[in-house]
Amino acid sequence: MVVLVGFMGAGKSSVGRGLAARLDLPFVDADEAVERAAGKSIPEIFEQKGEAGFRALESEVTIALLAGEEAVVALGGGAVETTEIRSLLEDATVVYLELGAEEALTRIGDPSTRPMLRSHDPRALHARRVPLYETIADVRVPAGQRSVEELVDEVVALLESTGSFSR
Ligand code: S3P
Repeated sequence: MVVLVGFMGAGKSSVGRGLAARLDLPFVDADEAVERAAGKSIPEIFEQKGEAGFRALESEVTIALLAGEEAVVALGGGAVETTEIRSLLEDATVVYLELGAEEALTRIGDPSTRPMLRSHDPRALHARRVPLYETIADVRVPAGQRSVEELVDEVVALLESTGSFSR
């Protein structure tokens, strides 16, 4: 299992899609899987069930994905805050797309699709999560100011050179 982690706006879904094509694996976006499971958008889940309700559903869906068929999986930016998900990631190849808080906020632009940005201080959230991403990462790639293609190339090269993932 190859899993992309990183803060909102880091490009986990676009890089994940490109990486899956290069590795000839299916691609799964965990946020989309949560929305499918709930039959609602992420902002609606937060509105109706709060953050705790969203995290419970996110954990259930993510744990099932990680136990499923070999794939490239893009996680939601906050999934690493759940202890059980972090421990399951020990058995996966974890790619951390690094992005500073300011650049993430600029890239996200309109925060309406990211309810966490309305209820939390984004910089504090970023600071709290960076050590978690760093701890679980097998490879780290600075994601700022580079195209998706460049990032995919770099991730593939790093996975090969570090022997983190082969098929
Ligand atoms: C969240 C990030 C989002 C989504 C949800 C919560 C977070 O995913 O899972 O809005 O807590 O950082 P992306 O990182 O794909 O935006």
